[in-house]
Amino acid sequence: MSYAVEAENLTKYFGNLIAVDSVSFKVKKGEIFGLVGPNGAGKSTLIRMICTVLRPSAGKALVEGYDIIRQPQEVRKLIGVVQEKLILYAPLTPVENLEFFGKLYGLDSKVLKERIAELLEEVKLSAVKDKPVGTFSTGMRQRLNIARALLHDPKLVILDEPTNGLDPQSVRWVRDYIVNLKNRGLTVILTSHDMYEIDELADTVAIMDKGKILEIGKKEDLKRKYGATKIEDVFLELTGRDLRDEISGRLRRRGW
Ligand SMILES: Nc1ncnc2c1ncn2[C@@H]1O[C@H](COP(=O)(O)OP(=O)(O)OP(=O)(O)O)[C@@H](O)[C@H]1O
Ligand SMILES: [Mg+2]
Repeated sequence: MSYAVEAENLTKYFGNLIAVDSVSFKVKKGEIFGLVGPNGAGKSTLIRMICTVLRPSAGKALVEGYDIIRQPQEVRKLIGVVQEKLILYAPLTPVENLEFFGKLYGLDSKVLKERIAELLEEVKLSAVKDKPVGTFSTGMRQRLNIARALLHDPKLVILDEPTNGLDPQSVRWVRDYIVNLKNRGLTVILTSHDMYEIDELADTVAIMDKGKILEIGKKEDLKRKYGATKIEDVFLELTGRDLRDEISGRLRRRGW
């Protein structure tokens, strides 16, 4: 099996609103899969279905061969998620936070202790391991959030806008760490509004808008297809066209 994720006609309605509209795609094992799209495109909803947090309205998906609807427990063991919002307890220390989440995953205390020490070293938080998380900078909290996602040794790591709102040093650290995850053989799904980030990190790019995947392919193939030097240009060509046509239409009508 060479795919980490195989989704077929995945669909999610919120009432009458179709947030994800019959989306099909495959994520290859060991690649960085960049998922981009304007606000409200349906990226986070799609991710939440893959993570088994939201139940699809229709369609199906397999994670490492396990069905997200019929085998959610298996799927959860294989996925580590860094969500848009940080989930950490401010009065607790990094060690206490990780112990809490590790226990939720049912990890054995001795294994958990070792894993926490190893991860805190990796995300450069060993020196502050006994300080309350509430005193941390946003960058430090995000590093801890990443450690939390890796506690149970997942095969697929999903990061939803992981560098949003971070300072340049923290952004650099997170990007390098994502490459490091790939080099260790993990599969990564990454969403971002920063096209430079996607251009730097992603192997495959999926461009989503209004619940649909408009285009998907290897980053270099997409650039070639659209005669672009940057993924940003492909993105704007596909998602900015309506807006551009509308504005140029208005300008024409006003004699410009
Ligand atoms: N729990 C919910 N209940 C109702 N509507 C929702 C819910 N979650 C998302 N939506 C709607 O579904 C659509 C897709 O939202 P989603 O958060 O998946 O987009 P996104 O691509 O992640 O956007 P952003 O870039 O702003 O994070 C939006 O119209 C949003 O308002
Ligand atoms: Mg989102």
